[in-house]
Amino acid sequence: MSVVALVPAAGRGVRLGLGRPKALVPVNGQSLLLRAVRGLLAAGCVQHVVVAAPPDQVDVVAAELAEVPDAHVVPGGAERTDSVRLALDSVERVAPDARVVLVHDAARAFTPASVVQDVVRAVEQGAPAVVPVLPVSDTVKKVDEAGNVVATVDRAELRAVQTPQGFTLDVLREAYAAADGVATDDAGLVERIGGTVHTVAGHPHALKITTAFDLAIAESVLAVDIP
Ligand code: C5P
Repeated sequence: MSVVALVPAAGRGVRLGLGRPKALVPVNGQSLLLRAVRGLLAAGCVQHVVVAAPPDQVDVVAAELAEVPDAHVVPGGAERTDSVRLALDSVERVAPDARVVLVHDAARAFTPASVVQDVVRAVEQGAPAVVPVLPVSDTVKKVDEAGNVVATVDRAELRAVQTPQGFTLDVLREAYAAADGVATDDAGLVERIGGTVHTVAGHPHALKITTAFDLAIAESVLAVDIP
């Protein structure tokens, strides 16, 4: 039985503003995507990776991953949820013996191996769905349409959620079969079908690179010791 990781990488990278898909943006010479895929496989507990690429750039993404034999590329969709669904549909073909599935954003290219290992271990030990989380250090407020504060949420109860998120293959398939509309994370779809989502400790280095500021952090702090 194997573990397969789905990597949605079909975003256009509009917020980064570099005119190309975010996954293909290089950080100290190596793209976010290549770093993310290598990181998953280097954790030692993931055997296959399926990458959802922008539909018009499947060849470019496949060329980017040519040196990674366990990586497969499929066309992604209009929303992240569509991209994950398309990657999930390919699992039977790419990794027929998979029972555990991870979903990992290419944009979280610096996720430490220990987070990947902890997520896989928790699923293998019986959790149907697992997310890595961090405590929230900012105070979080709810606002109305006018921008006025309506409530202050107790931050002790809040967690910021990262990826990879881990699932039994059966549970993720069931969640996607029931899904209508889009979700910002995959565990949210499991919650909607009444499934329990467990947590493990996330890591600050698993930040999602979204803006030029995040990219600068990655270049100056995270990628310095990676050839
Ligand atoms: O836009 P955001 O940063 O939240 O996207 C998270 C991940 O989902 C990124 O790795 C992005 O490439 C991916 N994505 C996708 N298909 C889309 C939109 C986003 O695979 N249509």
